[in-house]
Amino acid sequence: MRVEDFLAEVERSFAGDPQTSDPIDPVFAHIAATVNGYTAVNELAVLNAAARVLPDDECYLEVGSYKGRSMSAAVQGITDKTFYIVENYLEFGMQGQQAREELDRNLATHAQDVDVRLLEGNCFSLLHRPGVVDRPIGVYFYDGEHTGLSHYLALGIIEPWLADEAVILVDDATYPMVSVAHDAFLAKHPQWRLERRWDASSNNDPRWANGLHALSFRRDEATARGADEPWDVRWRRLAYLSSLGPGQKAAWKAIHRFPELIPLAKKLYPSKKASSID
Ligand SMILES: C[S@@+](CC[C@H](N)C(=O)[O-])C[C@H]1O[C@@H](n2cnc3c(N)ncnc32)[C@H](O)[C@@H]1O
Repeated sequence: MRVEDFLAEVERSFAGDPQTSDPIDPVFAHIAATVNGYTAVNELAVLNAAARVLPDDECYLEVGSYKGRSMSAAVQGITDKTFYIVENYLEFGMQGQQAREELDRNLATHAQDVDVRLLEGNCFSLLHRPGVVDRPIGVYFYDGEHTGLSHYLALGIIEPWLADEAVILVDDATYPMVSVAHDAFLAKHPQWRLERRWDASSNNDPRWANGLHALSFRRDEATARGADEPWDVRWRRLAYLSSLGPGQKAAWKAIHRFPELIPLAKKLYPSKKASSID
């Protein structure tokens, strides 16, 4: 995936400066208005721009689909490419089955005839399994859980799967914990660059929700396929899998069983997610 192609396609997708103008295609406003979710109109147009210039022999992978708003937008106008969703359905206090059904309905409406493959499970376990996707990832959209550790790991875990040149889009990137995690990761991994920041001017900005950043990755000898997992990624993955991941899972299960814990969860997790626990 040529990063330059992506940046040019973003420019073509908006009437003016993407930060402050509307997407040319009204379909993104329609999707934002009709599909439950958290991504905002301009973000949807950027995701679609990336998918449009993705080569056919690479794929698009999204972590965190919820009910499919972002994926419904990404696939607009595209029929000949492969899209993956990685989703564990643990957050939001939602029943996994109900959320899946809504995702299925939305994809049936907006992604008819598109090859969208659902991988159910925690991205930090799934994406460490060999053969989980069948081609290099040219576009990666991360909209999963937002802790500093998760965000660092979200970049580290995906690197072996990326195409030799790839675009990485990170949602909620205006949150300081996200940009701090990026900066820390980029400082250690010179193959990665921050290409664009579309920051939110307020929480739940109507164009950019909580901000979207575009990163790029270009493989070199140090990141050749088959290289060992770098230590900074390895220890974080092991730490996540042994403590933070299971802890969060237990917490979300407890909220399903004991709804009276919701006010406490809102205090502990005061993000857009907490507002949708109800
Ligand atoms: C903010 S929502 C995604 C919103 C969606 N992209 C949209 O356009 O509305 C975050 C989703 O990420 C999922 N998620 C969070 N952490 C995850 C993980 N570690 N692995 C897989 N999915 C995860 C949650 O279940 C939740 O549905």
